[in-house]
Amino acid sequence: MHLPSSPWALLALAALYVRAVTVYSQIPFGQSTKTLSAPATNFTPNAVYDPKQLKAPPLPDDLPNTAFTLTLAASNSSVQGLSMPIPGTFYGFSVEMSVSNQILPFLNLMSLLTARGGGVHIRVGGNTQETATMVGELPNGTILQKAAVNTQITTQTPALLISPEMMRMMGNISALVPGVKWYLGVPMNDTSHLRLQIAEVGEAILGDNLLGLQVGNEPDLYGRHNFGGRSSDYSPQDYFNEFGAEMAGINADAQIPVKNNIVGPSTTGDVWSPEQIFDTGYLSAYADNLGFISVEKYPDDNCAAIFGGASQPRDPQTEFPKYLTHGAGLQIIQQFLNASAVAQRLGKPMLMFETNTASCGGFPGLSDSYGSALWGLDYGLTMAANNFSGALLHVSGGSVYYNPFTPPPTNQSAFHAWTVSPIFYANLIVAEALGPTGTAQVVDLGANGQSEMTPAYAIYENGAPARVALMNYMTDPSGQNDYVATLKVAGVQSVQVKYLASPSVAEKYNISWAGQSFGPAYGADGRLQGNLSVVTVPCSGGACPIHVPAPGFALVSLTDAAFSEVNPTAPATFSTTTSKTKSYNTATINPSVLATSNGHGGSAGKIFLGATSKESNAAARGAGAGAAVVALALGAAVVGRRALALAL
Ligand SMILES: *[C@@H]1O[C@H](CO)[C@@H](O)[C@H](O)[C@H]1NC(C)=O
Ligand SMILES: *[C@@H]1O[C@H](CO)[C@@H](O)[C@H](O)[C@H]1NC(C)=O
Ligand SMILES: *[C@@H]1O[C@H](CO)[C@@H](O)[C@H](O)[C@H]1NC(C)=O
Ligand SMILES: *[C@@H]1O[C@H](CO)[C@@H](O)[C@H](O)[C@H]1NC(C)=O
Repeated sequence: MHLPSSPWALLALAALYVRAVTVYSQIPFGQSTKTLSAPATNFTPNAVYDPKQLKAPPLPDDLPNTAFTLTLAASNSSVQGLSMPIPGTFYGFSVEMSVSNQILPFLNLMSLLTARGGGVHIRVGGNTQETATMVGELPNGTILQKAAVNTQITTQTPALLISPEMMRMMGNISALVPGVKWYLGVPMNDTSHLRLQIAEVGEAILGDNLLGLQVGNEPDLYGRHNFGGRSSDYSPQDYFNEFGAEMAGINADAQIPVKNNIVGPSTTGDVWSPEQIFDTGYLSAYADNLGFISVEKYPDDNCAAIFGGASQPRDPQTEFPKYLTHGAGLQIIQQFLNASAVAQRLGKPMLMFETNTASCGGFPGLSDSYGSALWGLDYGLTMAANNFSGALLHVSGGSVYYNPFTPPPTNQSAFHAWTVSPIFYANLIVAEALGPTGTAQVVDLGANGQSEMTPAYAIYENGAPARVALMNYMTDPSGQNDYVATLKVAGVQSVQVKYLASPSVAEKYNISWAGQSFGPAYGADGRLQGNLSVVTVPCSGGACPIHVPAPGFALVSLTDAAFSEVNPTAPATFSTTTSKTKSYNTATINPSVLATSNGHGGSAGKIFLGATSKESNAAARGAGAGAAVVALALGAAVVGRRALALAL
């Protein structure tokens, strides 16, 4: 996420997010080092408590047709505009390094995703990676800690100390939920004194579960924010040189055995286009290091509300309709389409490495609405159709609106205490739409005369039509703007349909996926609750009429295989607990739990770090249908109370 322009704004943000925090930061534009202690007065409740609900936008003047036909070719060979094969891991998460201790350990959600898409890719990084330093150990098993900034380095972000326990926690998560893999951020704030220990320890502990190392986060904004003491005329050539110093260090470091998994250039396009960076010779000079081509983009920002002054204030209600059109996603990636084609030619996956509804925490009522789920679905499928191989939705502390999921407040000791927000359904459903085969090819069907309100995509798998995604952005309780799309697919007798249902795009809580949901705010344990409800639609002569309400989203499986491979009967579940009193030991994983954790446990209910009967019972409830249950307290709260939950 973008830094605010003003260091004072950043300090104000700190005051918003924690009740009292000491921030040590050299003020970039001044000469002196200041220590500020912000008072408790501006504490805001967790965003997930915020009941603000917007109004659904009015119907458009030019109402789209309510009946149209979509004809699918029987083979991918004759389909115009079909994407390259896109993995089911497409939608992952970007977790701000400074809050990773609070956010990471949500095993049930990861388990749901791996059971559909075959894996989950999670990045730990962001602005806070730039000043992070790996140390040998932190007291009491703590995995991260804020530290005074080295006064030699001008930076706006408090420095972060992380211990190898962080990597061990990540390694344990991958062991418990196979398919969870990681990107790590390597600091690039001081290329005269490289700090590659995060890469070294990450490689050593995570091994094959480490997908890549990001070097340089949003480098086109380094100059604007004088990040790492860089001047405002910091250029693509300066970045090329500094990136080269990092690559030379990595190439010479025997403790970093994998050299070709670097993620770059992670530009936002705000200051430098990817092409401006490519023009320096970046792609050829670092061809042997670059494993992935990355960009980062938020379509909007809510920075004025949080920082004041830095940008124009925005009214969420006014912004809302801009998200509820088919063109919204394409608009975000338009400037990166050439880079996507370049990446494909080089055989390197194109990644949207950090994104969400709006930077600076998102908009109340918008980023946490059913509309945000529709936006996320459409945006994700648009990226996939345009040959992006992955996109990571940013997750930050408890006081932001855009989180797909939010840990319990750190002072709560509760079992069912997580919050799963509407946009998480975009992760879940895109994983289902793409499936685990790695052969999914996506095409935007230009449905209903390219209507902005009723987009549709087809997904081909192993060369044949497998699924169709249909959406309706309009809200009309009268039913008059529901539509019927008739899918024509040769030889199909019947199809199975799952709906993401809600009465309004503005709705925050009454949302269900095929009849199931995650429960209300602070009501989630990461498992889908309620009875699964799948609609079977008979087809006549290969024509299948699919009803899509206003608003609505439907995922249509065209074959039994296309349905069953993404509808696991019993994904592994875990009991997750948080405990205030155990906040400091949380990265500790009991090896005996791991030993029984990989799907054959049976001995459910072993909870370390403080078992209670409540949790044990909950674990037992999850044990139905042969599910492997592992009771695991990975300590979501960790040092959250002490962590500065900057929503960067
Ligand atoms: C995506 O890649 C495929 C396969 O190379 C290509 O045919 C298609 O035109 C690309 N799509 C876009 C929008 O560039
Ligand atoms: C899990 O955590 C324990 C304790 O920190 C550590 O000893 C072990 O190596 C970790 N396992 C993995 C696979 O990283
Ligand atoms: C796409 O990027 C390549 C590499 O930077 C560049 O040579 C080419 O001119 C670009 N094409 C367009 C249409 O911008
Ligand atoms: C947690 O902290 C909030 C804010 O200070 C407070 O309102 C709430 O009562 C606390 N909850 C518990 C369980 O201590």
